[in-house]
Amino acid sequence: MNQEVRVFAPATVANVAVGFDILGFAIDGPGDEVIARRTDRPGLQITCITGDGGKLPLEAEKNTAGFAARRLLEQLGEAALGVEMEIHKKMPFGSGLGSSAASAAAGVMAINALLGMPVPKLESLHCAVLGEQIADGAYHADNVAPALLGGIILIRANQGLDVHRLPIPSELYAAVVYPHVRVLTKDARDVLSPTTTLPQCIQQTGNLGGLIVGLYESDYALIGRSLEDVIIEPQRAQLIPGFATVKQSALRAGALGCSISGAGPSVFALCKGAATAHRAGEAMQKAFLNQDIPCDLYVSPINQEGAKTIERS
Ligand code: HSE
Repeated sequence: MNQEVRVFAPATVANVAVGFDILGFAIDGPGDEVIARRTDRPGLQITCITGDGGKLPLEAEKNTAGFAARRLLEQLGEAALGVEMEIHKKMPFGSGLGSSAASAAAGVMAINALLGMPVPKLESLHCAVLGEQIADGAYHADNVAPALLGGIILIRANQGLDVHRLPIPSELYAAVVYPHVRVLTKDARDVLSPTTTLPQCIQQTGNLGGLIVGLYESDYALIGRSLEDVIIEPQRAQLIPGFATVKQSALRAGALGCSISGAGPSVFALCKGAATAHRAGEAMQKAFLNQDIPCDLYVSPINQEGAKTIERS
């Protein structure tokens, strides 16, 4: 058992164009840090939150990281253990980059690491998903699973957490641009029609299958052909100013495919090679800046590790 640990959990891109609510991958940064330390006072308390502009609750039962951490302590039979938790938000809220998922993943990782990793990360996933549920009301793992486990994760079913790690071609890079506009996940879900047509369903399942085969075979051209969302993106594009131009810029710069990250407003492109990812990212950034929308660019290989311990004592 450790006295104190500092852990990190990364930002994530959910949906990955063709896997609405069932696919996600992690990037190297940004992400959240959580510190957990032993204390004599029984139970888990959050003592400090930074980087949230005062928006997040210190009350552990209302906080994604605190709630997730407490559920893991209960699962491990350690509910009475004295733990102080600090949360350092180092990524934007409401960005489509899985901010609440990163906090929830960091929350369970901090407890697991403090106790010397008594369970594999996968066994703490349910608690992390419960933590994220505090933030958005739904039990879905498309951000939390990659934030905790790393990699590209397929969630065959959210109930029961039937999650599977997909292979990552060695030259696969992501460029992610976060434009500083407001898109609420709730609004981005409310715009969606509850029904799809049979032709849409056929095309989307073909593309999802194609993406998975492309990842298994490192077939970048197949990955590119498959990254076409015919169901969700056409309905959400209106929420992101100039989305069509941004996407076109990424594709012209050589990206394999480009779509909305999670519920938006961030936009991601998958690319073959770091140089192309930088070019595509800068092209997307320029397309937002041309509309006077400030934005942040993150270029990263797929993060394979997910939540990790960065200091322990
Ligand atoms: N899959 C979710 C969505 C991610 O696109 O709405 C955001 O929680």
